[in-house]
Amino acid sequence: MALSEDLFQRLVGDGDDSRAADRALRLSLQWFARGDVQIAFAWMARARRLLDSLPRSPLHGYLAYLEASVDLEITEDPEPAAAAATAVRTCARDFADPALDGDGLGTVWGVQTAERMVRGAASPTSSCTTSRRTRSTCTSWLAPEPGSRGGREERHTGAARGGGRFRLMSPSRPAKDFFRPLAVGAPDPVREVPARPSRAIHFFDPSNEKMASKIPDLVGKVDVLLGNLEDAVKADNKEAARAGLVTIAQATAGLGGGSGPTQLWSRVNALDSPWVLDDLTTLVGEIGHKLDVIMVPKVQGAEDIHYVDRLLAQLEARAGLDRPILVHAILETARGVANVEEICGASPRMQGLSLGPADLAADRRMKTTRVGGGHPGYLVRQDPDPQQPDLQRRVYQQDLWHYTIARMVDACAMHGIYPYYGPFGDIADEVACEDQFRNAFLLGCVGTWTLHPKQIAIANRVFSPSVEDIAHARRVVAAMGDGTGAVMLDGKMEDDASLKQCLVMVELADQLAAIDPELAKQYEAIAGE
Ligand code: GLV
Ligand code: MG
Repeated sequence: MALSEDLFQRLVGDGDDSRAADRALRLSLQWFARGDVQIAFAWMARARRLLDSLPRSPLHGYLAYLEASVDLEITEDPEPAAAAATAVRTCARDFADPALDGDGLGTVWGVQTAERMVRGAASPTSSCTTSRRTRSTCTSWLAPEPGSRGGREERHTGAARGGGRFRLMSPSRPAKDFFRPLAVGAPDPVREVPARPSRAIHFFDPSNEKMASKIPDLVGKVDVLLGNLEDAVKADNKEAARAGLVTIAQATAGLGGGSGPTQLWSRVNALDSPWVLDDLTTLVGEIGHKLDVIMVPKVQGAEDIHYVDRLLAQLEARAGLDRPILVHAILETARGVANVEEICGASPRMQGLSLGPADLAADRRMKTTRVGGGHPGYLVRQDPDPQQPDLQRRVYQQDLWHYTIARMVDACAMHGIYPYYGPFGDIADEVACEDQFRNAFLLGCVGTWTLHPKQIAIANRVFSPSVEDIAHARRVVAAMGDGTGAVMLDGKMEDDASLKQCLVMVELADQLAAIDPELAKQYEAIAGE
């Protein structure tokens, strides 16, 4: 794996080679600790290149230590292992430096660690698996551990599970502090998530001029416009996308800001990416007053939301905003699904969750190659007819996403926030798209992403209760009087619980009618029925 010059410059900065080597070495350690050995090697090679032209320093010791520990890992042969162990011991002796303790490196950088390495080399059949040894070297070396960021890490090394690093954090602040602003001068958090229609969250790439030019026309026609900065935007266009979104938000009337007909959201880059910090600081600083919701991808647990929560409060305070920006998390890692309840409850900013079927499939190692939707191989088959066992049997395709959507809906409902279906990548297949959206709607989702303008009409149709359902719901409400007891309507029993379901539909219809005149007319037309 090669590191692009651009990424290298961005992550290590330029100018001072010794500082760059230090950064490269730390990045190498971090990637080893995450289990991404290829990237770790690329950073290690960078560090070696830089250090070869510098006078000897503790950094040379660190690098030698890392190289030696990798050597120890990739050989079962006692001879090179012993040589590597000697290198470790020499480095440890040369560079044991109590002054380095403060930054967490010195704590393990010492004779004790080297001795442990030597003992490991002397017994190559020790129970350590190879990747475990470098991993544990790196993770202890990187102490204090900068927060576990599951997904990829766990995927690559099941061995790492069960350690203290993956312990769950406390999901929330004490009740008395939950609604306090997290920075002096930040706006008060919302006590209830505003119920704003968001049937279609329409994605656009703000670096794509053709797409950007269509945005003003979509205001008032779609509930949410989302400037996407993450996946599907090429690395070279990340900055253009961010700048483009600022321009569009500033120039487009009626877009975002709490009361406009169309909300403005943005999906920022992942929290471990080189872009997200600038995404957040720029967006809040420049267009924070227009931005309604920030969508955070690849959320793993409450700690990700806590990080964004505090940072947004600081940025809001600096920008003098009087309204908090809400946060929406994408459920697209196995660990995120496991932690879904704590994610929903991590902050009063939490507006909702979306299913991210593409990343989630990859993270779970599902054997699909699609963006959302079903799969013909995921099915149940009718039992054979005992009289005619050779007769062709019907098959029923099943919904790959049922479990996750249902979990997401429960977690959101429990915390009073909103669940959404995510992307449906087969733009040409409008029928299957509508089916997938409807499944999500029936299970409790309030909206979905749309990736192409033609999906907006599908989403608006599916996520608005039908006039037939509203006509029926209104009849139940009328027949139930004070809302208690039971009545018979068209041969069916209705009671307090079915009334509550009907009220969900009627309330949603009222909210949608308030912003959608066409729908208002349709609901009005059945008012007397
Ligand atoms: C969306 O981001 C997905 O991964 O499906
Ligand atoms: Mg994704």
